[in-house]
Amino acid sequence: MSSLRSELEARIQVWAKTHFPQLGPGPWVRPCADPRHGHFQTHLPMVAAKQTGANPRELATRLAQECPPPPDWSTPEVAGSGFVNFRVNPEAVGKAVEKLRQDPKLGIPHTPQPETIVVDFSSPNIAKAMHVGHIRSTLLGDSLSRLLSRIGHKVIRINHLGDWGTQFGKLLLAYRSAGRPPLDPDRSIQQLEEFYKKGHEEAESDPIKMDAARAELAALQSGEAERLKDWQHFCQRSGEHFHQIYRRLGVTFDLEKGESSYHDELPGIVEELLHLKIATISQGAAVVQNPVISEEPFLIRKSDGAFLYGTTDLAALRSRLRDLHADRIIYVTDGRQQLHFRWLFDTARKWNQKAELEHVWFGTILGPDRKPLKAGMEHPSSLSIFWTRQKSGQKRSFRKNVPT
Ligand code: ARG
Repeated sequence: MSSLRSELEARIQVWAKTHFPQLGPGPWVRPCADPRHGHFQTHLPMVAAKQTGANPRELATRLAQECPPPPDWSTPEVAGSGFVNFRVNPEAVGKAVEKLRQDPKLGIPHTPQPETIVVDFSSPNIAKAMHVGHIRSTLLGDSLSRLLSRIGHKVIRINHLGDWGTQFGKLLLAYRSAGRPPLDPDRSIQQLEEFYKKGHEEAESDPIKMDAARAELAALQSGEAERLKDWQHFCQRSGEHFHQIYRRLGVTFDLEKGESSYHDELPGIVEELLHLKIATISQGAAVVQNPVISEEPFLIRKSDGAFLYGTTDLAALRSRLRDLHADRIIYVTDGRQQLHFRWLFDTARKWNQKAELEHVWFGTILGPDRKPLKAGMEHPSSLSIFWTRQKSGQKRSFRKNVPT
């Protein structure tokens, strides 16, 4: 109960300043290690005795007499070789809780330096079911956003939807050869996953179909009307599926901005990075190099001219600084994206995009086969959760099987 503690701290500081002005500013109050001895304790007499050569127990007795605790507290007790223990009565706790309840800030002080913070979380992919990793990101991102806005930051919650991947070529191929059926709102994600699977199998086993899938993707990306309409239909239905889950979880976003919205900016960004010599051409592809991060470079344009996940993230990052004036961006994803974000942050720094960038990640959630759970896989009957705990220098690993 920080207000009770600070009330006591204030009293003790006055006493310390009067009698021992040479001492530092404190703090002089800490919680008692063992609640049987009291709620709070001060070690001030020990410190003062050391400096002045006085007897610490005598100083403790003086402090206990001369520095009474706030009203509704028990009489302080001298303890050990020079501590004073304080105990709060239930009345004082009740009053303190009531005071906090009436405070619109609930006693939590606001930060003296409010920032504009973008929290990029959830960010599932269109035409695929939201998997357990996305749910984790959703809950962690939501909690972080709530905490940060609670202490006075301006938080912008962003859902960076994966709506522009190469999966749309194969998906469109199968969807269109099935005659572009309208998707059933109750099972649209399943239908989309089935179309994708079919398109994938066909394309992987037949080079002609693979070319056809590539042509579908190219047609979509160049804005061909019918493909665009189909894609919008996929986005719409997927969005409904995601929002059903967000509603159940009570999670909201300030901005839902898919990767597709950065499409037009990507060529210019790659050209700019090449011009600034941050990127170079290697085997026909545009890449950023930094051997400290990894031997493999960061790919921002493939040799066939296609742009990548990282290119879109560079565009999104710039827009968050330029248009949203973010001071800080927090990305919440699975731990397997650590390398991606190291590359992104390194490139952003070279590109002079000034913001604090943080990747908050969590462990991969594994199925009973110990492989990462993926979208579209069958619902497992149980999950294994792994975690490690560090205690007195010793690391222990745990595993727990939980029914789903
Ligand atoms: N769509 C990605 C995925 O499912 C997550 C995107 C995270 N945000 C970002 N700006 N890269 O793995």
